[in-house]
Amino acid sequence: MSNEGVNNGRRRFLVASTSVIGAVGAVGAAVPFVASWNPSAKAKAAGAPVKADISKLEPGQQMIVEWRGKPVWILRRTAEALANLEKLNDQLADPTSAVQQQPGYIPGTSERAIKPEYMVVTGLCTHLGCSPAYRPELAPEDLGPGWLGGFFCACHGSKFDLSGRVFKGVPAPTNLVIPPHAYESENVIVIGIDPEGTA
Ligand code: FES
Repeated sequence: MSNEGVNNGRRRFLVASTSVIGAVGAVGAAVPFVASWNPSAKAKAAGAPVKADISKLEPGQQMIVEWRGKPVWILRRTAEALANLEKLNDQLADPTSAVQQQPGYIPGTSERAIKPEYMVVTGLCTHLGCSPAYRPELAPEDLGPGWLGGFFCACHGSKFDLSGRVFKGVPAPTNLVIPPHAYESENVIVIGIDPEGTA
């Protein structure tokens, strides 16, 4: 019984991830390099940190790495996307990230990031765990004229901005989770460790 639930969840995650990668078209640049750096299956099962090379990530592109069996999204935000974050604050349930959905070294600013240009969040909806879709376009027909880019969870309609902050009036109760992570160098993010001196 319980195995069945796990398998179903896994399938849903894989399907959702594939469609996001396909839509963005970052798979060619991001996945092979990340895969070559991934630790062994045994180390991964034990929760070892995972490195992501962000050197080929263009503004507006998102890449996905897997850490502890969960998808972690890394999004390189455009200057326009960064400028729009503040405009959304009064539409959000927790614009300053008061609820602890992130490590203590992530500031409660609109960017929720160590480096504002890069968003790093766990790509699972805080309602029931579906993987929301990356919807960077402005004012698409299905999301309305006020949409400034974000993530949409098709399971029950939750919406998040490009920092993973949840909108008011949707089923998801909290912002998306930010996993522990640190910059090993300008182009390498390690998921699963804290920056030196903060742990
Ligand atoms: S799981 Fe995302 S809205 Fe329900």
